[in-house]
Amino acid sequence: MSTETTGTPLLECDAITVRFGGVTAVDGVSLDVRPGEVVGLVGPNGSGKSTLLNVVSGLVDASGAVRVDGADVPIGKPGRITRHGVFRTYQTPQVDPGLTCLENVLVASRDRGRRTTASAWLRRPSMWARDRARWSEGAEALGRVGLLDRAHQPAAGLAYGERRHLEIARALVAKPRLLLMDEPAAGLSSVETERLVELLEQVAGLGASLLLVEHKIAFLERLCRRIVVLQTGRRIAAGTPAEVWAHPEVISAYLGEAR
Ligand SMILES: Nc1ncnc2c1ncn2[C@@H]1O[C@H](COP(=O)(O)OP(=O)(O)O)[C@@H](O)[C@H]1O
Ligand SMILES: [Mg+2]
Repeated sequence: MSTETTGTPLLECDAITVRFGGVTAVDGVSLDVRPGEVVGLVGPNGSGKSTLLNVVSGLVDASGAVRVDGADVPIGKPGRITRHGVFRTYQTPQVDPGLTCLENVLVASRDRGRRTTASAWLRRPSMWARDRARWSEGAEALGRVGLLDRAHQPAAGLAYGERRHLEIARALVAKPRLLLMDEPAAGLSSVETERLVELLEQVAGLGASLLLVEHKIAFLERLCRRIVVLQTGRRIAAGTPAEVWAHPEVISAYLGEAR
């Protein structure tokens, strides 16, 4: 089976380099994600995985290029890439504990209509229709992650694994074409991890691409046909899960970490 696919990549990272003072956190890394593809990004701690996601999200400056559908996206502009349908979840779930679960999800859903005070009065019925549509999209996303019965409860009452699911629901409401996820299974029990795999299979089944940073190998093997491996900021291997785990540089990178 070939792991290479043809056509314009949805996301293209081209020779990305990030330096923090004397540390080269990401060193000339190139990586593609094709439409509908689930790609794993792995590597020992400190290998530059989160930094690379931060570059794609515009949170960290870098040299090189980030492209979506073949067109350059400015680097170092937070939020710019979301215009192209690329969204992100974090290593520590970013939810607002003071808001209800539904409110947490709705803060992400863009109000697609324009509002001015005068036109708002004239268009109140259509505003209500829009609000209803947003609510039902939010409820649908909560239902998808199994949190619909918690919709009106504060997110503060959620367990850690549930916060992760809430964060995913918020990303889903934005209708991502590509979701970047930093260690989504970190801190989850094996039952919660299994639920997450099923959820991400559903998300991929809806046509979204995923770029998953994760340490849990079984998790990646379930979801990804292609894995890219970083070590100390450099890309050292890429291929199917079986190919990369058999790669000598990958074996020594992980043995080095275990010592
Ligand atoms: N904001 C920062 N300032 C300075 N160094 C950083 C910063 N963020 C990450 N680093 C360094 O960059 C390297 C890669 O870190 P990171 O991308 O977090 O790795 P990973 O996610 O693979 O564990 C590490 O050496 C880390 O200490
Ligand atoms: Mg990290």
